[in-house]
Amino acid sequence: MATSSMTILDDLFLDTLKDIYCAEKWILKTLSNMARATYSDEGKAGFLPHRNEIRGQIQRLKQVFGLLGKPARGRTFVAIQAIICEGGEIMEGFNRSPARDARLISSAQSVEHYDIARHGMLITGANPLGLTGAARLLHANLKEEDALDVKLTKLADAPANANDNDPTAA
Ligand SMILES: [Fe+2]
Ligand SMILES: [Fe+2]
Repeated sequence: MATSSMTILDDLFLDTLKDIYCAEKWILKTLSNMARATYSDEGKAGFLPHRNEIRGQIQRLKQVFGLLGKPARGRTFVAIQAIICEGGEIMEGFNRSPARDARLISSAQSVEHYDIARHGMLITGANPLGLTGAARLLHANLKEEDALDVKLTKLADAPANANDNDPTAA
């Protein structure tokens, strides 16, 4: 690959890494708030265990920064900000109920899909840059993201079904 193309890829990789590093920290905080806001024990069980995973993911991302010889520094991008704001609006705008749980799960899944997309971009970029160690760390994060996504999809059915008996449901 030509040097200028490598530089562009290098810059894109670092920008995306800063994006997801910042996003993970926000997600950690948001997920804790979402877990507190859920109505059902199943909802809490869906959110809470991922917090420790995120802490581990942040450590892996720090290691990736280290492999690049760069300081671990995040940068806020508007896309994740908007997705996280949506979660905040749900917590403020609806009473604690199965209906709110369904919305929170859906919002958490939007966050996860962002997380998955960004990790996918980084893994794709790591290989041509010869960052095999980084790719391995990012794969470990992605595996956890994918597993949570599957879990949230299963969880989405439970509160949605409970809406049948929920007077606050639309
Ligand atoms: Fe993550
Ligand atoms: Fe995640």
